Amino acid sequence: MATTQTPVSHVWPLGTTLDADGVLRLGGCDARGLAETFGTPAYIVVEEDLRSRARRFLSAFAQRTDDYEVHFASKSFPATAVLRLFAEEGLACDVASGGELHLALNAGFDPKKVHLHGNAKSIAELQQALDAGIGDIVVDNLVELERLERLVPAGERQRILLRIAPGVSPDTHPKISTGGPNTKFGFNLDDARTAIDRAQASDRLDLDGLHFHIGSQILDLAPFRAALEVVAQLGDFRTYNMGGGLGVAYTHEQSAPEIEDYVERKVSLMREILGEGKRIADEPGRALVAHSTVTLYTVESVKHNVVDYVAVDGGMSDNLRPMLYDARYEAIVVGRPPGGSTAVHLAGKHCESSDILIAGADLPDPRPGDLIAVPVTGAYGHAMANNYNGQPRPPLVFVGDGEARAVVRRETYEDLTRRDLP
Ligand SMILES: Cc1ncc(COP(=O)(O)O)c(C=O)c1O
Repeated sequence: MATTQTPVSHVWPLGTTLDADGVLRLGGCDARGLAETFGTPAYIVVEEDLRSRARRFLSAFAQRTDDYEVHFASKSFPATAVLRLFAEEGLACDVASGGELHLALNAGFDPKKVHLHGNAKSIAELQQALDAGIGDIVVDNLVELERLERLVPAGERQRILLRIAPGVSPDTHPKISTGGPNTKFGFNLDDARTAIDRAQASDRLDLDGLHFHIGSQILDLAPFRAALEVVAQLGDFRTYNMGGGLGVAYTHEQSAPEIEDYVERKVSLMREILGEGKRIADEPGRALVAHSTVTLYTVESVKHNVVDYVAVDGGMSDNLRPMLYDARYEAIVVGRPPGGSTAVHLAGKHCESSDILIAGADLPDPRPGDLIAVPVTGAYGHAMANNYNGQPRPPLVFVGDGEARAVVRRETYEDLTRRDLP
């Protein structure tokens, strides 16, 4: 007998289905079966969702300009399988450390399509980037500029962008606002002028353009204009990179600009403020990966206190965002028809009172042993996962066309002692 499908909201990965009995299918795979096979907590990644968003970014730029590059901000989901998939789709890659550079090259990115960020790059990291022959180094400060000039061998040139702090703050959580007047990232405008003069006088650096990244989880695109207007006053360059930052909806009542609207806004601002013939680079992270992933948890305990606490087998070790910057999520109980919900605190298992994944989650009578699914955990989830309380980090499971395969295995207790020396 066919079961009725309940429409899932836009926060779930592409192709997700939920039937009237609460049976959840991700990439054509039954979530219960995934939990049985791979255990919980587990990150379930819908491959088609990743591919589709990469294609949307690329085609949105291609329809509007001939000279563009879309860098995946690898910090948002630094897993080899994800990097490899985006390399296959033709994205470039933004890395913010020697470790991310290693991951990107190992995953198959052409070094020329990689650029290196960071406000505290070490000499070793700069050397690593030079040795790899990466496309651009995005220089953050005057110390780094001098270091780089000394490291580039005579007779060679390294292409660079300068990261500018335009003094513009978008409407986002202060902890993910990065381009304001008092940020640790990039050159203030005075230092930027000094850096431009030095770079242009250098016979080892090739100053290709300017970069800014004003913050993350940006839902109102207006501040990109103010930031570009400031940066435009610094001179005329070939390349402009307006960073990433496009926000996503985390709950069904939230909405976010579409990828195409974001690209349209950036390309048209470029034309309007800088004129024709500029090269535009972009570096989205969250908007490429957030919706691809659902975290599955098992309920371990239910407790009635002033509020009801429903505690699961993961928490701040697999998703730090609620604790770091009050990020909101929603959840369902898999296999329980929706409706008749009560507000509960979905708590993690860690020894911190702040380890609450969702405060006031609407869940229908969760009980020990229930399977909980939390969508939109692809961005900065696996990336910030940790071993607090000796918790082994969860596996990453790619799903598509009804097939599932682990692309990162679950950590083991042996992994926890692997770096110990006698
Ligand atoms: C320099 C830079 N570029 C791109 C990104 C990606 O931002 P988002 O994931 O919001 O798109 C970040 C995130 O912090 C960043 O610092």
